[in-house]
Amino acid sequence: MKIPKGLQPLIDDGIVDAVIRPLKSGKEASVYLVRCGNQIRCAKVYKALEQRSFHKLAEYQEGRKTRNSRDQRAMGKRSRHGRNVEQEAWKNAEVDALYRLDAAGVRVPKPHGYVDGVLLMEMVADAEGDAAPRLNDVEPGAEEARAWHGFLMDQIVRMLCIGLIHGDLSEFNVLVGRDGLVIIDLPQAVNAAGNNNAFRMLERDVNNIRDYCGRFAPELLATQYAHEIWEHFKNSGLRPGMALTGIFAHDDTPADVDAVMLQIEEARKEAEIRQRGREEAERGAAE
Ligand SMILES: Nc1ncnc2c1ncn2[C@@H]1O[C@H](COP(=O)(O)OP(=O)(O)O)[C@@H](O)[C@H]1O
Ligand SMILES: [Mg+2]
Repeated sequence: MKIPKGLQPLIDDGIVDAVIRPLKSGKEASVYLVRCGNQIRCAKVYKALEQRSFHKLAEYQEGRKTRNSRDQRAMGKRSRHGRNVEQEAWKNAEVDALYRLDAAGVRVPKPHGYVDGVLLMEMVADAEGDAAPRLNDVEPGAEEARAWHGFLMDQIVRMLCIGLIHGDLSEFNVLVGRDGLVIIDLPQAVNAAGNNNAFRMLERDVNNIRDYCGRFAPELLATQYAHEIWEHFKNSGLRPGMALTGIFAHDDTPADVDAVMLQIEEARKEAEIRQRGREEAERGAAE
């Protein structure tokens, strides 16, 4: 195929031997399958900042440190230099997050370097060796949905244990690999410390996963993992692999089964509405 412009420098330098095919062109970046020696990898080429959705940037940028005050002023003014600084900060945030998460035992694609604005990483493969589908593309049974939910809550805890929140976690950014789930797409990963939106973002991530898994195992819809995880984090008691209950505010009144069923049904309807919203947003972004 014709070499995409962003990948030409890597071909020239011999870092990439061949471009096999485009995998997906998403909202922030285009992802290609490439060959490096005898390895098939993914190359994520970031789109120019102007083409990307800006509205979310302020929320994510809060608390993100910049190195000098000229950068700080430039970012405030949206000058040309400012845009460049933002773009670098944004791209580096994903690469930094991948290396840190991989080291912390969170299942993300293994990073293989960041060259000329292109991130090279492990291709997550399905059983046939093809690029893996997203959660949104598959229909698990109830048991599998429960197991996936438990796994992803544990991954969210491990991320927060090193101070990171994904910030855009949903069924569109988790791949179903041969050996299990893999979390992708982290340019907006935020540092929990010093970000006033941190809990809100954690809650959104947790609830997106709850809503997706709850479509196949409805009892999950009544769980309260975000509050529980945040409480442990605030008290410095969050630990990788710790057991969670999904229950936040205990009350002592005997369980009213009808009321619980009603609550699950209401949560299910709300989840459906949020799910439709996400699907529309994803469709809008891909256009
Ligand atoms: N490491 C990877 N292995 C396999 N497929 C990937 C990988 N990274 C990205 N993809 C595919 O490319 C798509 C877009 O990548 P993503 O990082 O989510 O960027 P964005 O959603 O910002 O465009 C994903 O939905 C996924 O299908
Ligand atoms: Mg994505």
